[in-house]
Amino acid sequence: MNEIRRGSSSFGDSLNVAGQNESSRLFGHKGAAFLAGNCGSAAAKNSLTEEGRVTRWLAACQELTPAVCVHSKTLCERSIGKKSAALNFSLARPKVKIPAVIIQPAERIRGTIKLSGDKSISHRAAIVGALAEGVSRLQNYSTSVDCEATLSCLQKLAVGVERSGKDVLVHGVGLDGLQAPAAALDCANSGTTMRLLAGVLAGQNFTSIITGDESLRARPMQRIVEPLSMMGAGVTSQNGRAPLVIEGRKPLNAIKYELLIASAQVKSCILLAGLHAEGTTEIIEKEPTRDHTERMLSWFGVSIETRAGEREGSRSATVHRPAQIRARDVSIPGDISSAAYFIAAAALLPESSLEVRDVGMNPTRTQFVKQLQSFGLDVSVNDIAEESNELTGVVRVSGRKKQTSTEAAPVLINGKLIPQLIDELPLLAVVGSQLTGGLEIRDAAELRLKESDRIAATVQNLRKMGADVEEFDDGLRVAGRARLHGAKIDPQGDHRIAMAFAIAGLLAAGETETEDAGCVAVSFPEFFDLLKSVTEG
Ligand code: S3P
Repeated sequence: MNEIRRGSSSFGDSLNVAGQNESSRLFGHKGAAFLAGNCGSAAAKNSLTEEGRVTRWLAACQELTPAVCVHSKTLCERSIGKKSAALNFSLARPKVKIPAVIIQPAERIRGTIKLSGDKSISHRAAIVGALAEGVSRLQNYSTSVDCEATLSCLQKLAVGVERSGKDVLVHGVGLDGLQAPAAALDCANSGTTMRLLAGVLAGQNFTSIITGDESLRARPMQRIVEPLSMMGAGVTSQNGRAPLVIEGRKPLNAIKYELLIASAQVKSCILLAGLHAEGTTEIIEKEPTRDHTERMLSWFGVSIETRAGEREGSRSATVHRPAQIRARDVSIPGDISSAAYFIAAAALLPESSLEVRDVGMNPTRTQFVKQLQSFGLDVSVNDIAEESNELTGVVRVSGRKKQTSTEAAPVLINGKLIPQLIDELPLLAVVGSQLTGGLEIRDAAELRLKESDRIAATVQNLRKMGADVEEFDDGLRVAGRARLHGAKIDPQGDHRIAMAFAIAGLLAAGETETEDAGCVAVSFPEFFDLLKSVTEG
């Protein structure tokens, strides 16, 4: 088995794979060069100019200056002890040239595909496996750069990780076995890594620093700082943003917490902190979000109770500190959020025929499929089975033969549907542009706080392709039956925007050029190769 390479080289390689492989040739590329580096840059430094010794310490880390400890001797001593002089501050990743990808209009999608493991489930399997005693084999672990960031952080906390093909072996260290990291933990672009790991780090008897790339350092973290502080951890942020300095406390206080924002990451952060708390930690959510953490903890034998909350439609989850967690193998289903791009393309392109095998069918994640069905598109779910406490299935799609619903009013997506569709909303807007009455998305202000401002990015790129779109603070409205034309797409460094508009490119007349196409590696490095392999016409 090969050991996972840490930090710079592994991230660089992943981007290389996505950016310089055959896909760009088939779809065509102009040889445009893009620089993917995002740490250690002047921009990174500028975004960290607020006052405060921790900030300066971290800014110095990101400039790869080993002399950082002069800025905050106390913090260095407390968090990393005497090893500080020998630290290797390897947060910068090499700059990688990534060509733009050109998408030509397609006639149909044909084939059978199987996808790399679900990103959300992979993160959780790795983290819970790390807290278990013994070796857990994670089958079909996600190939995403995000999930690699989780493994890399766990390694820095003294967890052994080996990767062999699609499997990852996690050598769990037990609930009390993590060790103080010798450097800041780099979550790269991954909000899930940062928010979930923060919950774990809050319950340790050491201090750690957790940071990420420019996009992640711009995202809101107060939503986890508040509950973790209530639990007794010392969490310092930069005006509510990362880098976070987490002074762990053992044990934490158990809390009963009602989520203010419908966020599975915040819920999971608190549940994982609850593993290190004295008493019962309870989380109540008004709008149910994905429940992979609850399922993963239960799979690993942790007693976690979930039930309907007191208020209609709400849910609650309670967890106690277990005496021990035992290692378990986990079989990870294909990523339904990655499959969504293929399903949408096949459903909209006439004469398509696509089968997606072994894909996750967790009911908190399948709303996109239900939505397409409600539009009259031919998508079916078959052969549901249970694996490692998650549902899997086979999705079959046939291209539309006739116009979808004749409904003239836009389809409204809002309220409780939003958390169930959160990662698919940019793609849903693209699909909406092809419906008779168009589509309106509301109550989705959270979308502005993702890897990019996804409302703005979706609106701008749809307009570039000729769609008639109105932007709202909390969503957008796209008119139906748009005749999209090719355009130069700026995904704003956001993988889901790049993929949604690659699908729009297949539906459009003329050529669509996606700049900075390598960003798809954040969740789906194989995206363009796979799309090429099933696209005809
Ligand atoms: C995720 C939760 C969602 C989602 C993200 C993955 C998770 O984020 O958008 O891609 O794995 O818990 P929020 O919790 O911010 O809604």
